[in-house]
Amino acid sequence: MLERETVVILDFGSQYSHLIARRVREAGVYCELIPYHEPAETVMALNPVGYILSGGPASVYDSGAPHLPDYVLASRRPLLGICYGMQLLAYHLGGQVDAASEREYGQARINLTDIDNPLFSSIKADVGSSLDVWMSHGDRITRLPPGLETLACSDNSPTAAMGDPARGLYGLQFHPEVVHTPLGMHILRAFLYDVCGCLGGWTAGNFIQESVERVRDQVGKGQVICGLSGGVDSAVTASLLHRAIGDQLTCIFVNHGMMRQGEPEQVVATFGEHLGMHLVSVDATEQFLADLEGVTDPEAKRKRIGERFIRVFEAEATRLGRVDFLAQGTLYPDVIESTAPGGAVAAKIKTHHNVGGLPAGMKFDLVEPLRYLFKDEVRRVGEALGLPRSIVWRHPFPGPGLAVRVLGEVTWERLETLRQADTIFIEELWTSDWYDQVAQAFAVLLPVQSVGVMGDERTYADVIALRAVTTDDFMTADWARLPDNLLARVANRIVNEVKGVNRVVYDVSSKPPATVEWE
Ligand code: XMP
Repeated sequence: MLERETVVILDFGSQYSHLIARRVREAGVYCELIPYHEPAETVMALNPVGYILSGGPASVYDSGAPHLPDYVLASRRPLLGICYGMQLLAYHLGGQVDAASEREYGQARINLTDIDNPLFSSIKADVGSSLDVWMSHGDRITRLPPGLETLACSDNSPTAAMGDPARGLYGLQFHPEVVHTPLGMHILRAFLYDVCGCLGGWTAGNFIQESVERVRDQVGKGQVICGLSGGVDSAVTASLLHRAIGDQLTCIFVNHGMMRQGEPEQVVATFGEHLGMHLVSVDATEQFLADLEGVTDPEAKRKRIGERFIRVFEAEATRLGRVDFLAQGTLYPDVIESTAPGGAVAAKIKTHHNVGGLPAGMKFDLVEPLRYLFKDEVRRVGEALGLPRSIVWRHPFPGPGLAVRVLGEVTWERLETLRQADTIFIEELWTSDWYDQVAQAFAVLLPVQSVGVMGDERTYADVIALRAVTTDDFMTADWARLPDNLLARVANRIVNEVKGVNRVVYDVSSKPPATVEWE
């Protein structure tokens, strides 16, 4: 098995912990974000080349505040504490941390008192004696521990950065991982390469080579099934597995009838014909639609789709005979959410987003090759594997498909109306170069009819809502400022080309308080 060069980020509950992990990966170094209370053996097994301690909401003297596990300093590996992580480091090495008279939040300027240390020397050419940073803290260090010296100070913090180059120990009161600290990435790189001595080279290509070996080790001569949905995560999972184990993989594609226009055909053409995978494609549209007859409650729709999905998938898997493993496109944010301090709540929210989960009666071992990747990394791996751009860069699509976008009862006719409207919207986004500028865009069929006029006749016909959002993480989102003429063209085409639609509206709500989908 290949040994990975790994930096461990211990998570003390900061809202920016994910971001630290993403920045380290962007710098070309593999890292894992691990809850601070994880057993020492789990962390030591990774043989970390260095540690980063995240920020967090606690105060080091609070009863029950999370503390730095002993093995971290005992390992004598380089360490960078950020915000709460810095205060923890100071506290555990014998320094003093106190509440600041004023909480410092937002943009700040710090004075660099020692610019020649390894952490700051890389930004020397870009700055004078001060640096713009993003602060978010209530406590501050009032007495440095032995061996550490102040590297920077601010009006509110006598020590805004500290370090001991001999031991490779550093602390930053500010957040280098956020874009509001413009040179933050340089500082993180300096820690990784100059302090930890990382070699880097974490790329999509290396990842593929490494995970192909891991999958082969795990699977041996076993048989693997993988559910394909048409989305990027399952597509990349399947392609990676196919490269690793070829015909030991069988993909199952359940067409529930609520896909976008042309999607089922594209899945079959890409994976079955073009990539030559063993693909079982089953059209279960009629069964799904029968289950949804007369159902208008969104949760009931999801539940019925989920249950039917499991039954169809299970029947196909059973037909295949021996199956040892189930491959899933689980990504790192899902893993982090379910293990992070306070993450149980987030994990619960997520379950309602899954179509069916694992068939309860089926006992498989899981293969999850993307378990440690962020979405943008998955896309890069998809490109490196040669998947078509239309799959790799496709907007996310909910598991229950268009059922969450046909509000009210789902019927074949209403799905067809929505599919046609959606196709027009997406086509126009592509031709106007807007598709890649929004994170997600789609049409929604409303459960009301509105009055219109056609010739001398009044009509009552369907309403289509258009939704386009910009977002980094889908937790919050803003509505996309699409140009008027683009919206006009889309609306015009929809009312002219889609039978039964006489009105088109554009959704200008942000999330929160609205959500991305309408349900
Ligand atoms: P909301 O509507 O919660 O959506 O703001 C956030 C993101 O999640 C997607 N979404 C789903 N994805 N299964 C999925 O795989 C689902 O049931 C589901 N529901 C919403 C939504 O499209 C958006 O990208």
